[in-house]
Amino acid sequence: MPRVYIKTFGCQMNEYDSGKMRALLGKDGFEATEELSDADVVLVNTCSVREKPEQKLHSFLGRVLPMKRQRRVTVGIAGCMAQVDGDRLFKKYPNVDLVFGPDAVSRIGEMVATAGTQRVLDTEFLGEEGYPFPSDVDPDASRRVGAFVTIQKGCDNKCTFCIVPATRGEEVSRPLADVLDEVRRLVDTGVKEITLLGQNVNSYGLKVPGHPTFAELLRAVAAMPGVELIRYTTSHPRDIGDDVVDCYRDLPNLASHLHLPVQSGSDRVLRRMKRFYTRAHYLEVVAKLRAVRPDFVLSTDIITGFPGESDADFDETMSLLEAVRFHASFSFAYNARPNTPALRLLDEAIPEAVAQARLERFQARQRQIALEEHAALVGTVQRVLVEGPSAHDEGVICGRTSTFKTINFPGDPATTGTWATVRVTRGFANTLRGERVEGSERVDE
Ligand code: SAM
Ligand code: SF4
Ligand code: F3S
Repeated sequence: MPRVYIKTFGCQMNEYDSGKMRALLGKDGFEATEELSDADVVLVNTCSVREKPEQKLHSFLGRVLPMKRQRRVTVGIAGCMAQVDGDRLFKKYPNVDLVFGPDAVSRIGEMVATAGTQRVLDTEFLGEEGYPFPSDVDPDASRRVGAFVTIQKGCDNKCTFCIVPATRGEEVSRPLADVLDEVRRLVDTGVKEITLLGQNVNSYGLKVPGHPTFAELLRAVAAMPGVELIRYTTSHPRDIGDDVVDCYRDLPNLASHLHLPVQSGSDRVLRRMKRFYTRAHYLEVVAKLRAVRPDFVLSTDIITGFPGESDADFDETMSLLEAVRFHASFSFAYNARPNTPALRLLDEAIPEAVAQARLERFQARQRQIALEEHAALVGTVQRVLVEGPSAHDEGVICGRTSTFKTINFPGDPATTGTWATVRVTRGFANTLRGERVEGSERVDE
């Protein structure tokens, strides 16, 4: 049986696309392998959101391409960097057999077959009409408690710092029936937690008259037997409506955690980023969510050192952190990306050291907040969905709360996929420690 090895960089979209490639190649008789040295086909799924991932591709290919001297192996570059930089990569790496963007994933079988006789470059964007969302389920999904399901591809926003509209093309919403069908297949393999994926899930369906909305989709997924927990990412703060807030009131299997990227706490910077919401609007959304679920937890994305960001602007980001108390964050210093509108602002570029110092200040305080919030949970009793054995400690398993907290506690890996009731005994910055208690004990909300 031929074997395929897939290396994935980037976000959950890429993880999901890699799963689809495993599934589609599986239909053509390929087996997935985790051993690079075993592989007949090696694919690297790339990210382009910041510059660093590009260096990672280079070093990965430095390990893979010499293998071609010893034996026949097909090597492909997939993903967002392949989409925006396809031609250049095709020329730069003459020993790479195929280069293709995210819209070509559904054609992976034909591309791998063709690459046996000629090199393939496929970076065509596909339109909305009949966009091929593959329905085949990642063969690895059956080994996991949670799985991703894409509901939308692309992004119609034009945030000035962001390369994603150029890598993923225009927004296309996946038909509701397809989404539900994939959720059903996953639940049938034992998956309990579904994470719906899109760059801007709240705009799901809005372009097509009469199309179900995101809130309607949430209700439909929540009603499916076997779906025990629903998460989704990413939400755009401008588009999250009261109909979605109402879902938190009505749907007990909708998780009490939201990743809601704010990027900056300053209205001036948000305007220049073209995010189309204000700090006040963001805080209002948070207040509405906490009004329906007082324990609601938020995490966010932050960019420091966006061109023109003053000390006063950054102070606004710090004060927003205090106001919301984000439990987690993905924060980065601004990184200029090719062909993005913010390049026009580069005459106001912030020195790297300043952007970095702001980043460190943000991260240090955010970590402290996480520690404070986690310390406050010590002694409480939480319900967790058991995800499996801890990666580090023998005899310890880990579970996840609805609020997206990982709790490690002594337990039996055979309980994976069930709910456990756990008392928190210690809090760290990213995880909690706990001990199992009787199921009848009251759970703290
Ligand atoms: N669609 C999501 C949203 O609207 O927030 C995020 C998508 S983007 C792939 C993930 C995160 O990368 C962004 O939220 C942003 O914080 C970060 N990011 C994007 N472009 C960046 C850049 N040029 N420099 C630094 N961080 C960037
Ligand atoms: Fe990028 Fe903005 Fe689209 Fe998110 S919403 S993917 S940050 S353009
Ligand atoms: Fe994701 Fe990176 Fe593409 S963050 S959408 S894989 S540019």
